[in-house]
Amino acid sequence: MNAKVLVTGGLGYIGAHACVALAEAGRSVVVVDNLANSSSAVLDRIAELAGGPPAFVHGDIRDIGLLARTMRDHAVDSVIHFAGSKAVGESVGLPLSYYDNNVGGSMALLAAMAATGVRRLIFSSSATVYAQSGRMPLAETATLGASSPYGRSKLFVEHMLADLCASDPAWSVACLRYFNPVGAHPSARIGESPRGVPNNLMPYIAQVAVGQRERLSVFGDDYETVDGTGVRDYVHVLDVAEGHVKALDYLQRVNGCATINLGTGHGVSVLQMLREYERASGRLIPFQVVARRPGDIDRCWAEVSLAHGLLGWQARRSLAQMCEDSWRWQRDNPLGYR
Ligand code: NAD
Ligand code: WQD
Repeated sequence: MNAKVLVTGGLGYIGAHACVALAEAGRSVVVVDNLANSSSAVLDRIAELAGGPPAFVHGDIRDIGLLARTMRDHAVDSVIHFAGSKAVGESVGLPLSYYDNNVGGSMALLAAMAATGVRRLIFSSSATVYAQSGRMPLAETATLGASSPYGRSKLFVEHMLADLCASDPAWSVACLRYFNPVGAHPSARIGESPRGVPNNLMPYIAQVAVGQRERLSVFGDDYETVDGTGVRDYVHVLDVAEGHVKALDYLQRVNGCATINLGTGHGVSVLQMLREYERASGRLIPFQVVARRPGDIDRCWAEVSLAHGLLGWQARRSLAQMCEDSWRWQRDNPLGYR
């Protein structure tokens, strides 16, 4: 049997795009997902784009036995670990649940990897691990300091992985710090399908554009930015997905622990995003300026030279493509996968 890549959380937003990118690169995958924030309908959609469904195990990453069995049964030789809980605001009210799923889940995964001799891992980290500093772009060496339980859960796992690699040179680990992944596959078959009110800017704008929500609330227009609204480094989800394929290649060549930003290196304001989305959708997007969102920073974008130097990866897709692909997905699937 050909060795497979275990993709935890592979039916989620980024994981589904990664499954398609991996298939395009000729990699076979096995997905473990407990459907906590996804649906089995995603499997059929991935199958359409990848020329067949990925192997799928419905289960929880905190089940060490299930993971070890899956790794043995599918001759897994590397793991991409997307599974986790990701809502910053929710994590403030449910810290133990976040530490359980994100830290406990990662520990269980590492135990299963250790038991089965799998030593290659890509971990989904986040720009949220950086301390607020104001100096942009953020290089991987910038001061760390997460401000939410979610962010700290990512930081704990990063530290754990660094300690593990220091203890045993056989491990090859990449912590990929995503900035703001947005957009969808251009086929409009897979995309982001938030449950309830979207927390993030682009899915919210998308729901206003399609008529499901009345208007966007712009959280503050008095930041020291180009137009007073918050600035972020939005990066196309397919570029992010392809970054994982490059990182897997890299881990086949190099051992140790690498920590790498995935972003475009450019900041875009809320109003710039809104205007670009209006252009892409041909719809007017009503908005009102409201108070700043607690905990928000004014500006954030990545230093991206390490990804280019180590992985040979660069974000290729424009803001226009991010908005066009998001819009096509939203228009064709107004209820997401439901
Ligand atoms: P997502 O919620 O769409 O996908 C996560 C998937 O993991 C879901 O399919 C969910 O059902 C599954 N899952 C959750 N807990 C599980 C468990 N215990 N066992 C098995 N499956 C489980 O999230 P996403 O946007 O695709 O994010 C993927 C990863 O990237 C997450 O770790 C997230 O923290 C990280 N990340 C996301 C962003 C972003 O903006 N989307 C930014 C930075 C980092
Ligand atoms: C972007 C900008 C908002 C919604 C979060 C997490 C981070 C990472 C990505 C996982 C900000 C403004 C938003 C709205 C608005 N996820 N905004 N109205 O805050 O950069 O990052 O998602 O790791 O950890 O913190 O992204 O999309 O929520 O906000 O004005 O309805 O849009 O104030 O300036 P953020 P976001």
